[in-house]
Amino acid sequence: FQRGLPFIQIPTTLLAQVDSSVGGKTAINHPSGKNLIGVFYQPRLVLIDVDTLKTLPRREFVAGVAEVIKYGVILNPELFALLEEKLSAFLRLDPDLLTAVVKTCCQLKALVVEEDETEGDYRAILNFGHTLGHAIESATGYKRFLHGEAVAIGMVFAAHLSSKRGHCDVQIKERICRLVKRAGLPVILPKELKDEHLLRSMAI
Ligand code: GLY
Repeated sequence: FQRGLPFIQIPTTLLAQVDSSVGGKTAINHPSGKNLIGVFYQPRLVLIDVDTLKTLPRREFVAGVAEVIKYGVILNPELFALLEEKLSAFLRLDPDLLTAVVKTCCQLKALVVEEDETEGDYRAILNFGHTLGHAIESATGYKRFLHGEAVAIGMVFAAHLSSKRGHCDVQIKERICRLVKRAGLPVILPKELKDEHLLRSMAI
């Protein structure tokens, strides 16, 4: 807008606090796919107050947990183990735990973005679960699933595929699936979604 105004992000959803407010990706959706039109443009500041999360509908908060789990899987086994241990407290919005976890996710994301701001290669690690996730959102007209819910199905699918191909330990795959389920997120791809449609979206 206006060739780039300085701006500050003040995210008020869990998903935005741990992921989308940091790193400068901006985009709008297109009927052909999610986030297809946009640029990399960094905010001057990201200002986060986890108190705002108390105002969220439950479903919206839980959807954000998918991105938190993502950080545990891709970059930080300690975070993953912490979620396994303290998921109930996290889902109860324990303020100290929330603050610590949101901070960790932002730090992890900042490290990735510092290394590869415009997604030459390494930043793609942040897209874990998103290839199928975005395809599910597109196939369902962005109406049926929240982003985090679609990513949850995508992460479980990616772990399953990876384990089938011998890249991911079966126990790891099961831990991912168990944690996603325990968080109250979906893990199953709806049967009525057509493979051709999903594969087309995944290829874009
Ligand atoms: N949400 C993934 C990224 O910012 O690269």
